[in-house]
Amino acid sequence: MCRHRIPLLVTTVSSGGADGAPGILIRPAERADLLAIHRIEQAVFPQPWPFSALESYLGEPGFLVAESDTDDEPRVVGYVIADTVPNHGTPLGHVKDLAVREGDRREGIATALLGRALSALEAAGAASAKLEVRAENEGARQLYRRFGFEHRKTIPNYYSNGEDALVMVRLSSEST
Ligand SMILES: CC(C)(COP(=O)(O)OP(=O)(O)OC[C@H]1O[C@@H](n2cnc3c(N)ncnc32)[C@H](O)[C@@H]1OP(=O)(O)O)[C@@H](O)C(=O)NCCC(=O)NCCS
Repeated sequence: MCRHRIPLLVTTVSSGGADGAPGILIRPAERADLLAIHRIEQAVFPQPWPFSALESYLGEPGFLVAESDTDDEPRVVGYVIADTVPNHGTPLGHVKDLAVREGDRREGIATALLGRALSALEAAGAASAKLEVRAENEGARQLYRRFGFEHRKTIPNYYSNGEDALVMVRLSSEST
């Protein structure tokens, strides 16, 4: 697994900005975030990642959280995990996990997370990226299409409930 320095930049999604998510800070995930991330993971996915799997991605440049500062205490409302995998000498980005708390959706938070993660992957040399998404997850598929991901192949029965996975790929502008 690649290990890269965590970018120091943070992104604040400001009110009225292109992402439309006021008061959201996108920043690298830290150990102190893991419990909150794990809680969201368990609430959102039928096959959640175990805590140790989340922990193993700490330090990856594509492991980012969205933090809301509209409450008294800042709280994690979403996260993305992406890393790079070797691919014929050129690293390929892999978006592995993305979730936003149910009550905080459709406010541009996943858009902000994914945009920052893809920038981090590009900075790590991975101009192209892939991901797997449940065939019936129309909302996520729509989000990924907006970022230029295209359906490349279908993996039948990929998930434990028998659901197919769609492999979506976003090519760098140089490879198109
Ligand atoms: C998919 C998910 C991450 C989207 O998070 P989000 O913060 O609500 O996404 P955004 O607000 O950035 O949405 C951006 C665009 O994606 C599309 N989109 C997102 N959710 C959608 C939904 N439920 N239905 C249809 N389109 C959707 C829309 O085009 C949306 O733009 P719009 O709100 O202007 O119409 C969130 O619904 C989630 O956590 N789902 C459960 C976990 C999951 O499925 N993760 C993806 C695994 S591959």
